[in-house]
Order: sequence, then structure tokens, then C-alpha cells
Amino acid sequence: MRELGQCPPLVLASEIRSLKAALVPVADGRSYLLQGGDCAESFSEFHANTIRDLYQVLLEMAVALAHGGLPVVLVGRIAGQFAKPRSAATEQVDGIELTTYRGDIINAAAADMVARRPDPRRMLKAYHQSAVTLNLLRALAESEFVSPAALGRRHALYLDALGLNDADRPGSDESMPWLHALKLFTSHEALLLPYEQALTRQDSASGRWYDCSAHMLWIGDRTRDPAGAHVEFCRGIDNPIGLKCGPTMTPDDLCRVLDVLDPQREPGRMTLIVRMGAEAVLAKLPPLIEAIRREGRRVIWSCDPMHGNTVKASNGYKTRDVKTVGSELERFFIVHRSMGTVAGGLHLEMTGKNVTECTGGIQSIDEDSLASRYHTHCDPRLNGLQAAEMAHRAADLIRNAV
Ligand code: PEP
Ligand code: CO
Repeated sequence: MRELGQCPPLVLASEIRSLKAALVPVADGRSYLLQGGDCAESFSEFHANTIRDLYQVLLEMAVALAHGGLPVVLVGRIAGQFAKPRSAATEQVDGIELTTYRGDIINAAAADMVARRPDPRRMLKAYHQSAVTLNLLRALAESEFVSPAALGRRHALYLDALGLNDADRPGSDESMPWLHALKLFTSHEALLLPYEQALTRQDSASGRWYDCSAHMLWIGDRTRDPAGAHVEFCRGIDNPIGLKCGPTMTPDDLCRVLDVLDPQREPGRMTLIVRMGAEAVLAKLPPLIEAIRREGRRVIWSCDPMHGNTVKASNGYKTRDVKTVGSELERFFIVHRSMGTVAGGLHLEMTGKNVTECTGGIQSIDEDSLASRYHTHCDPRLNGLQAAEMAHRAADLIRNAV
């Protein structure tokens, strides 16, 4: 922690403020939040192409959403998404009890006692990998990569791959100048507090405290206790904060945690990332919306259609089906439309790579194909085409909502 505390911040307070400002119009439906990336970044899957491919798909998704009629705020689950919450502290592997794998920033995934021992030096490695990742993202953002020509070309390729018709083809991306200045902000779960604390700095200009490990941090569904350490930490930083809202959250839980995290009711501060599952969302979301309305709060409602829809395939793989993911997204829009509120964002676990971790989609990935390219270190991610498909779906739903 001492060594990390002396390292340069990964992002600047001024950038964090500009993300917060960009989130203000998302809350009332003038802009759309797209947040996506790995479930868990890892030390072994660290390649320039992986980063480039994720950025590339996210950009294509932003173009698709822009054709839905809204400018996009782009936030990656990247450059710091290393720590994973686990439901159990230990697991049995071949009759031996092992500490669970908690993400590369804490221990190693290999099934032996030595690998599973937490090692604080991993925090430094995660920091340096995040710095290099950000360096590449910042360079790409200044390059040909985000030129109107490249964006248009990529969009056309995806439309072909997804079998979408010509009517969706943009005449010219020149009509969306904001697209070419699109910045990819970074985010991760604020789970490993020693890491977050060491990268928290006081901004000399404003005197405020910012967690400079990422632009946006979120609180997981397992660590949202208003009296717990994670909420206490996030209360003290000025970054935009995401809050995962799972099926066990009551309206009262939500109000109490927001009183702690956002006492000033600051626009752009809170994004509620709803992950109820396709089955539960119709029943569980309206009472939360009602509570926010009663309190007169302004928040961003974002849909995470991944975490409530994880299933075990018959061959043992943890997977998610594109159809179920799409149906939670659609129901999320239905609820908001019926309540007169705004479905403001989409939160996905995804990669630009052509992995086979989630079933379904345009490639009709079935359970038998899961084994061929199942690379995730934690939860199953949508591959590039499946993620793009979801963005086009969201764009359609936005078009119907506005
Ligand atoms: C995650 O986003 O990777 C995660 C663990 O989510 P949740 O806290 O919603 O389960
Ligand atoms: Co996950």
C-alpha cells in the first residue's frame, strides 16, 4: 500500500469530473450509458489485441446506440477490474480444502494451496497492468481507430455479420460529431479496499477526494451494506458511483444506502445497476423505482442483464443464454416505459474476442460448443457479436421508448 500510495494516479480528478458531468443527461434520457468489459481481467490474458478488440466492439455498440437516437457515454470494465467477490471463503478441490480464487489482484486461480495464498505484490502488478492498458486506450483514442471512416466501416461489417438490413445503415457519421471525440472511461468494482485506498488522492484544485484508480467505481451486490466498509469508503470519494441492485434488495435497503452515498443528491453521482434476472425483473424493479420517485431522487437506471441469469449447462459450464439476457433487457425497458422513467444504461460482461462462453446469438452457440473457446477467469462473457447484437437490441428499444 505504501508503494502504491507513491505511484502516479491512473486517472485525473478533472477526468472524473467530466465523466460525472457526462452522466447528468443520462439520468433524464438525453444520453445513454454503455458499460462493458471482462468479468475479471487477468495477468495471463493480457494482450494488446484483447484490449483493442474490446474497444473496437464498444465503439461499434456506441455507433449502433447512436443510431437509436442517443449520444453514448462509454465506460469500460477495464484497467482495474481484477478483484472478484465470492460467495464462499474456501472450496473443495479433489478432497482438499482451498482458499477460493479472488481474482488476480489477490491470488492465483491454479488449484493448489501456494497459488491461492494472497500476495499483496499482486496489487502492484494489477496497477502496472492497468497503467499500460490505459496507455494503449488513450493512444487508440487519438488514432485512426476512431476516425469517421473506421467507425463507419466497422459498423457496416457488424450489420452484415448480424444480418441486419440496409435501413439501419448510417448515411454519414458526420452527423454525430460527438462520436469521434468519444472517450472510453474506466471502471471496476470497488472491492479490494486497500488498493482503492492507496490510489485515493486529494485534488489540490477542489480539495475533494477522488479514487484515481478509475473514473467510476461500483459497489457489488454482496457489499452494499450501508454500515459496511465498502459503502463507507465510497461515501468519502467524489467519483461517480455504481450500485448493484439484486433481487434481495428492498426499497428500504436502497433508500438507506443512497442516504449514505448521495446525501447531497448530486446529479451524475449514482448509477443503479439493476441485475434481477429475467424472471424477477418485472416484479422486483417497480418497487425500487417507486421508492426513488417517492424520495424525489434523480438516478441513472442501468440494466445488467448478465448477473441474474447465470446457469449451469448440462456439461457443467457456467453460462448465460443470449435470449434470456435479451429478455431481461427488454423487460427492463417495459418496466421503465410503464412507469414513465428512463432506462438509461446497459452493463455487460463481454469481450471483443470470439469466445464461446454464452449460448445463443446469431452464431447459435450451443452447450456442446461451450468447450471450444471458454476462456473467462470468472463469469461467462458475451463475445463481440453477441454484445453487438445486444446493443442493436437496446437501440431498437430506445427508438420505441423516445
Ligand atoms: C460483477 O459485476 O462482476 C459482479 C460480481 O456483480 P454483482 O455484484 O452484481 O454480483
Ligand atoms: Co461477473
